[in-house]
Amino acid sequence: MAQQLTAETATEERAEVAEWRPTLLAYLCNWCSYAGANLAGASRMPYDAAIRVIRVPCSGRVDPLMIYKAFERGVDGVLVGGCHLGDCHYSEGNYACQGRMTLVKALLKAAGIEEGRFRLEWISASEGSIFQAVVNEMAAKLRELGPARMGDG
Ligand code: FES
Repeated sequence: MAQQLTAETATEERAEVAEWRPTLLAYLCNWCSYAGANLAGASRMPYDAAIRVIRVPCSGRVDPLMIYKAFERGVDGVLVGGCHLGDCHYSEGNYACQGRMTLVKALLKAAGIEEGRFRLEWISASEGSIFQAVVNEMAAKLRELGPARMGDG
């Protein structure tokens, strides 16, 4: 009986792995990266359906806890996108973001989240193809890594 349960459990686990699809949460600044994502869509550049976008006014608005809690709640990867340095519509928001994301990387490492699950990228409104490439690269990496589990590292 115990052997049968183990075999059934293994079959269920295999089915779960086969059905699993990564979730990539993206915080995109309204003025650049969100517009870059729009351009990719309008230009019919295919990008991975794993992405779920949250539009923020500026990358400087993204708090490290927003990223940490997203992983805690089960996302597999997080992308933060903002204007190129020097182009932030609020002057220095992306510099503040850059500093905070250093803290995020340390927090995630301590929580056992692999490096490839988090990226900070500067993507302008005219860089739809870069947005497409970043999303597709990240989604491929998440598939390679499998589901994220905090505390595994
Ligand atoms: Fe885009 Fe600040 S407005 S990073």
